[in-house]
Amino acid sequence: MKILRKSNGTFEILALPGDAEIERGEYIAAVEGDRALILEVIDVEYADIPGLLEDLLRELTLQKASMSVYDPHGVNSITISIRESKIIVAKLRTVIWKDDVKFNSLWIPSRFSSKIRRIPTSEVLRYVRGAPLVPIEIGESFGEEVTIDATAFDNSLTIITGRKGTGKSHCAKVLLYELAKRGCYCLVFDINGEYCGLGEGRRGESNEVSGRVVVARPCINFRAGIKTIGLEVMMDILEHVFATPQNSLREFARIWEELEGRGLLSVDRLLSEVRRAHMNEAVRDALLSRLHALFSSEFIVDGAHDPIYELFHGRPDGALVVIDLSKLRPHVRRVVVEYVLSRVTRHLSENLIPPLFLVSEEAHLYVGETYWEDIVTRMRHLGVSPIFITNQPDSIPELIYRQADNLFLFNFLNENDLEALSKFSHVDSETVKKIAPALGLGEALIVGSVVGNVPILVKIRDIDAKVLGASKRFFRRAEQKV
Ligand SMILES: Nc1ncnc2c1ncn2[C@@H]1O[C@H](COP(=O)(O)OP(=O)(O)OP(=O)(O)O)[C@@H](O)[C@H]1O
Ligand SMILES: [Mg+2]
Repeated sequence: MKILRKSNGTFEILALPGDAEIERGEYIAAVEGDRALILEVIDVEYADIPGLLEDLLRELTLQKASMSVYDPHGVNSITISIRESKIIVAKLRTVIWKDDVKFNSLWIPSRFSSKIRRIPTSEVLRYVRGAPLVPIEIGESFGEEVTIDATAFDNSLTIITGRKGTGKSHCAKVLLYELAKRGCYCLVFDINGEYCGLGEGRRGESNEVSGRVVVARPCINFRAGIKTIGLEVMMDILEHVFATPQNSLREFARIWEELEGRGLLSVDRLLSEVRRAHMNEAVRDALLSRLHALFSSEFIVDGAHDPIYELFHGRPDGALVVIDLSKLRPHVRRVVVEYVLSRVTRHLSENLIPPLFLVSEEAHLYVGETYWEDIVTRMRHLGVSPIFITNQPDSIPELIYRQADNLFLFNFLNENDLEALSKFSHVDSETVKKIAPALGLGEALIVGSVVGNVPILVKIRDIDAKVLGASKRFFRRAEQKV
């Protein structure tokens, strides 16, 4: 193999037929002396050879006439080899100089004397990242075990995205399982009820995280005491979830503050005060109908009960709290999420609970617009490390992509989806557009600090946990294909 040309960060490498059998995502190194260019393959193309058209036409004519070429000196095989040469298109990832990594180096090796060879993913990771502080076995890359660094999730923003049914939730389960195993604290907004089985082995036996998984079912075993909610969160819920008019909100705030001041805050007392108080009838009706809808779910109950504190406090070995949102009506779901996020923020700012990983799938369905910014700025500062999962990359605000530290990219075919991902700043859009459509089931391109900022293609491994939440089908398929 020889370097043919370079344009910005893209190298074209001339390869003879045997050398060109390389896959997208594999790494090659161009070595000269004590320096090496580390390149990632994104495509293979035909080489543009002078006289190719004539050669092809001659071949066609000979084939038609069923003639063979007289070749007494055996030069034909060399000609064939030249004609069949390919161009490997590869992206520059880094330059290694005496075991030192230089991401911004301008050095390029000699086209004639440099040696080009494939290098295993583990070697690339060893150069760019060293040994991970807290390794997580995530899967295999071209037949080799790959570990990612769990510490790189800490105080970072991670996005897991891909087409429907490509393995996103599975990947999140592997991450959660491994984080919980290492004593981390995790909170999952489980919209399909599929994370509830993480604490059980495949055959129903216990597994490594059994004692740490807690399933919180809102309105059943997970309820909020009215005295812990606070006026601000109540106002947010009434305004954003129930679209309460401003004048009704003002009356509500007045009544709430009065009852709170007298220590008389309860569901019944609040409703009766709203019924009794002096106010415009339309304002009262607007407020009452919303409060009835809010309290009828029985998520908010009397007392100072604080489920978030109780779930995380006094668990020195870590906890994986799964909030099962699957059986809730959309507005109750949003009430639960607003409550949980506000309590987590409050407790973290008072150092009452430890920093935690927050996993949310299709968050745009239940996270209010106001919360996106809050999650990635204020909450992150306080110790929330969000992991967002979505199959609609354009549903995530641009701000999130710009702030994201890690991306787990699964298969995507649609160009609009791929375009949305180009806002992610840690990888060029050409790599995304070439690699994402070629990924199979359970295969991901991992980019970001968890892999030392070089994109790595991984087949995510399996875990010993009960798989729940698989879509129900009438026709059963033996094997699911992407
Ligand atoms: N790495 C893997 N190894 C083995 N099975 C996998 C792997 N990844 C996914 N699967 C299986 O493929 C199916 C779909 O995976 P999963 O539910 O994770 O997809 P998804 O991307 O979350 O889909 P959706 O968009 O519908 O939520 C599941 O049955 C899962 O068990
Ligand atoms: Mg899923």
